[in-house]
Amino acid sequence: MSNLYVISGVTGMTGNELARKLIATGNKVIGFDNFFASSIKTVEDILDSELFCFYEYDLNSIEQMQQLKQQVQTDGAAFDKLVYINCAAVVHTEHFYHVNRTFETNVLGMKSFLDQAIELGADIFINCSTSEVYSMNSWGENGVSESDYITLANAEHSQRTSYAAGKLMTEFFMKDAVMENKIKGCSIRFANVYSKNELYPKHIIPHIITQLKEKGSVELLENSKVNYRTFLHNEDSCAAVIALVQSESALDGSVYNVATDEEISIVDLVKLCAKKIGIENPLITFNGYRESDPVRRLLNTEKLRTRTGWKPQIMLDQGIEMCLKEKES
Ligand SMILES: NC(=O)c1ccc[n+]([C@@H]2O[C@H](COP(=O)([O-])OP(=O)(O)OC[C@H]3O[C@@H](n4cnc5c(N)ncnc54)[C@H](O)[C@@H]3O)[C@@H](O)[C@H]2O)c1
Repeated sequence: MSNLYVISGVTGMTGNELARKLIATGNKVIGFDNFFASSIKTVEDILDSELFCFYEYDLNSIEQMQQLKQQVQTDGAAFDKLVYINCAAVVHTEHFYHVNRTFETNVLGMKSFLDQAIELGADIFINCSTSEVYSMNSWGENGVSESDYITLANAEHSQRTSYAAGKLMTEFFMKDAVMENKIKGCSIRFANVYSKNELYPKHIIPHIITQLKEKGSVELLENSKVNYRTFLHNEDSCAAVIALVQSESALDGSVYNVATDEEISIVDLVKLCAKKIGIENPLITFNGYRESDPVRRLLNTEKLRTRTGWKPQIMLDQGIEMCLKEKES
């Protein structure tokens, strides 16, 4: 079976790995990105493939999305299924505070992309949401579940939550489209995805590795004195997306947590990276504070595991080694 996948934000961390995995199994990918937070470098190795077609398009450009639609219409008939995956987003810590920008791309852009998929009669739409929607109560005895009630910080506390609030709205669009029988699909709440190719130095793992290598010490936010997180390797997060696409009964418009349950304190994460680099007792300093940042974010992934059989393959220890190897090469 060979499908046509249309991926927004294809040169981003999730998009490029998904495209690589999908064409490796004989599917065609039409992908686009406006390079807001990435570059063509991430897909250089697949640009020549006849199964990969890239456009420098902006999700918010009506004209460019019209051109995309025509291209998909032309190509679509030759494939078994038409699958849309929305990876494009204004994401990353520093952009979370830009209310207008995140709303335009993450909410309005997502909605028009979903509408396009429906207009073209696409079979499946995958909506990348975020575990940030759990906001202040991001954990529970067995991890926080998709059906748990959400306690959101709001504008009284931090503009940061506008990112989560916008993503939450997209989950309603997704569910509504499926309930109205317009398309099949689901939303995914990723938590702290990392990759060996990650370009973004402000993300915690590349930040720690870069500082350790450059100065042998690491500066963290005050929050890191107490914060715990789980970290999901990009290959596992992409495998989860593919597992969902292949599990028709799972595409009921609902939400799936995608994460590991391997929780680690940020201080221990620094020590783990330092040990792998060969630094004993690295100096850690603390500076700055982030409002409305939960102490823990631990997701229960039972629903995804039961419905698709997915489970993470790359444990943190191995994932850090993969990151370090990439930095050396
Ligand atoms: N990485 C994580 O830990 C994480 C966690 C939770 C949710 N998510 C979600 O997963 C999805 C993928 O995230 P990612 O880690 O690959 O992020 P990323 O920033 O690496 O990729 C997003 C891509 O979207 C592109 N983009 C932004 N605005 C665009 C626009 N207007 N038109 C076209 N392209 C545009 C960027 O240039 C970038 O390449 C996003 O929806 C994100 O919100 C990621």
